[in-house]
Amino acid sequence: MGGYSSEVDISILSGNTVCKHLDVSKYTVYPIHILKEGWFCKHADHKPIPVDKHDFSINVEGTKITFDCVFNSIHGTPGEDGILQAYFNLLGIPQTACNYYEAALTFNKRDCISVLKAYGIQTATNYLLNKGDVIHTSEIVEKVGLPCFVKANKAGSSFGVSKVYVEEELEAAIAVSFKEDDEIIIESFLEGTEVSVGVINYQGKVMALPVTEIVSENDFFDYQAKYEGKSQEITPAQISPEQTEKVQREAEKVFKILKLKGLTRAEFIFHNGEPYFLEVNTTPGLSPASIIPQQAKVAGISLPDLFDNVIEQALL
Ligand code: DAL
Ligand code: MG
Repeated sequence: MGGYSSEVDISILSGNTVCKHLDVSKYTVYPIHILKEGWFCKHADHKPIPVDKHDFSINVEGTKITFDCVFNSIHGTPGEDGILQAYFNLLGIPQTACNYYEAALTFNKRDCISVLKAYGIQTATNYLLNKGDVIHTSEIVEKVGLPCFVKANKAGSSFGVSKVYVEEELEAAIAVSFKEDDEIIIESFLEGTEVSVGVINYQGKVMALPVTEIVSENDFFDYQAKYEGKSQEITPAQISPEQTEKVQREAEKVFKILKLKGLTRAEFIFHNGEPYFLEVNTTPGLSPASIIPQQAKVAGISLPDLFDNVIEQALL
């Protein structure tokens, strides 16, 4: 848990959920915090134990501990973008999230959208800007229209996201996004219902969880709406059974096209009755306010069972 991005606090909440619900009769759990300040095993009431990065081991009272599996609860870099995935691959330690290439691809919103588009998944129109590019706001508006969303291309939890209504607001929104990433993506606004669908490989079968509908009290599903109660997250979503079926199959298709693994969550907007893909999270939030725990509950899957299954898949 942890990570080097703005999502660090959410990741620690996710990691704590995992530690709390892992079956201790089956697993010995070590809460490893991977932070900018260093990598440590942090058990409550104990002095932090440094992690040896050469082999991802810790030394507990003279005994070297190595790991049979890593349950990755890091959102953002370096846990959701392939960096740690590649490190654990090199060390030969099984881990719960998808592999390094798939992680890097899905964490890059623009590249992920381009691949899925080629497979017929519907997406919003977008425009990419790199730091240092000359900004032609009229060209952006011509391509994506107004209102539009300005997002960091590689970030999560809505850090650096703004909804822009007039061309004059674009430059300021772009500057906000560039604080999170050196690439930003500007997407057209799709009117419709936002839904979120967890997808897991459950007992060997790719399976969508119940769909959650997002009703934000704010202008969109921003950080405050996500984590500070400024939204209603309704599971199962109040959409028709046909729409539910459609978006669940679409989310499973995304999982299979991108060769994902473990626990994931994809976001869509129902626009003119069709699901439009927004993004997929390969280490989705597991904080008490996050969506996957709500969906698992409605599906009748307990968190210990869900996490157990994720570990079993990682160890295959
Ligand atoms: N990026 C956040 C943690 C999520 O997808 O839940
Ligand atoms: Mg996200």
